[in-house]
Amino acid sequence: MPTRAAVLAAWLVSLAPAPAGQMRSVWDGVYTVEQAQRGAALYQTHCASCHGVALTGAEAAPALTGFEFRSNWSGLPLGELFERLRSSMPPEDPGQVSARDKVDVLAHLLAVGGLPAGPAELARDALAGIRFEATKP
Ligand code: HEC
Repeated sequence: MPTRAAVLAAWLVSLAPAPAGQMRSVWDGVYTVEQAQRGAALYQTHCASCHGVALTGAEAAPALTGFEFRSNWSGLPLGELFERLRSSMPPEDPGQVSARDKVDVLAHLLAVGGLPAGPAELARDALAGIRFEATKP
């Protein structure tokens, strides 16, 4: 029979985030072109007024592309960036855009950031296992 310590250790391991080696990165083609196009339309309607049509920011809001944006999020799971825009954007009414649509907006952010598209759509439940990397590993 396993000791209590062994059971506890196994439980703690199961709670730990996936080791770095098992995580995908945003450089692995994690969204589709079509999804990013849907996201682009949503972005123009709900986000561009503050963040700019080209995501470069304005007095009203920071850029969502470029060096500083990438540095802010680099090394973090994409799920954290998603959570940020899911829970607080647009600021007056975050519920205005559904979580599902916000995944498409996130795909648009990746596309504008020059990250490659791939064969499968980005899915919300995959976000925690994909790491944002500012530069190609
Ligand atoms: C009314 C203006 C406004 C609109 C519309 C808006 N934002 Fe923002 N956004 C801001 C401001 C201001 C900040 C910085 C202060 C803050 O975090 O609240 C911000 C911050 C962010 C950040 C964090 C950036 C970083 O690197 O820390 C993300 C991501 C973001 N917005 C995404 C979006 C998305 C996606 C949409 C559309 C669904 C959106 N925003 C709509 C004003 C806006």
